[in-house]
Amino acid sequence: MKDRYADIKKVLLTGEEISKRTTEIAAEITRDYAGEEVLVVAILRGAVMFFAELVKQIDLDVRMDFMAVSSYGASTVSSKEIKINKDLAQPIEGLNVIIVEDIIDTGHTLKSLLRLLWTRNPKSIKVCALLDKPSRREVELEGDYVGFEVPNEFVVGYGLDYNEKYRNLPDVCVLKESVYKNDIPVV
Ligand code: IMP
Ligand code: MG
Repeated sequence: MKDRYADIKKVLLTGEEISKRTTEIAAEITRDYAGEEVLVVAILRGAVMFFAELVKQIDLDVRMDFMAVSSYGASTVSSKEIKINKDLAQPIEGLNVIIVEDIIDTGHTLKSLLRLLWTRNPKSIKVCALLDKPSRREVELEGDYVGFEVPNEFVVGYGLDYNEKYRNLPDVCVLKESVYKNDIPVV
């Protein structure tokens, strides 16, 4: 059997640590939106694991929807344009929208997404991200709910990928540089 941690340099956050933090964030969301309904939007595919754990613990009327946007493609280099590969199934006018992302890196993806979604007249939009890499930010953008700050290293697991691999690892891990040595991230 293949050792699925063979390309991993180190485990940064265990699934258990992530679960604990997710419970705290869900409680915070439950408090912040008391008496209101929320539409929680998972950004496919990186956010799915975090999203699934999170929504189960939000004690409100929750609607769920999904969007897919491309930014990175098959590379660790950020591109500034996003493309909507899958849009929301329903209008968001008058709704409290919470966007759930895997990681805020340069911030371009969320910045473009927020710009688009605000044109649809929601009541509010907040950003909830499992991870934040503030040292890489290129545009002004902050998550409203952030799980963990991570250093400037390429991470995989718990939904996050490199070339579509490692998403199913139950921890957030730092990938060995040798894996992407011909595709060095541009900072
Ligand atoms: P941004 O537009 O630079 O903020 O990039 C956001 C997207 O880039 C995330 O949704 C991830 O899909 C991807 N990304 C950024 N950093 C990492 C990383 O360290 N590991 C895996 N994916 C990443
Ligand atoms: Mg990705």
